[in-house]
Amino acid sequence: MNVIKGNRSSKLRTTGKDQITVYDYVSRKIIGITMRFYSLEKLINLHDNYRKVIKIDQYNLMLVQVQGELHLVESQCPHRGHPLSESDIIGTGLRCPLHGYQFDIATGDLLKATEEPCRGLKIFDLVYQETEVGVML
Ligand code: FES
Repeated sequence: MNVIKGNRSSKLRTTGKDQITVYDYVSRKIIGITMRFYSLEKLINLHDNYRKVIKIDQYNLMLVQVQGELHLVESQCPHRGHPLSESDIIGTGLRCPLHGYQFDIATGDLLKATEEPCRGLKIFDLVYQETEVGVML
């Protein structure tokens, strides 16, 4: 087991191992948060307009590269669940084709709503390990 010492407010870090556990400095206990690295893609395969939909447990994710930046977002529109794999990329925004809602791909913020408002797009931090990019879940 790979243990990282920190407190509840400290961010999780990866040390290149598949699993991490967070240790609470104050109580001197393992908090019990264990995450695992899931590899999503080899870096050599990435390019602008790259898209890949990935399902990991309950997470429906989409890896997408826009203007040289790689992003990991939920793959279903927060408005009514349309697959964002069919979305248009407009600048740094994702436009869902069903009702035209737009989301900032970097922050997840809702940029444009054509009907009732909805929450923003969930975004996930990417983790780079050697020649691969992945996510800790
Ligand atoms: S389902 Fe995406 S905009 Fe309505």
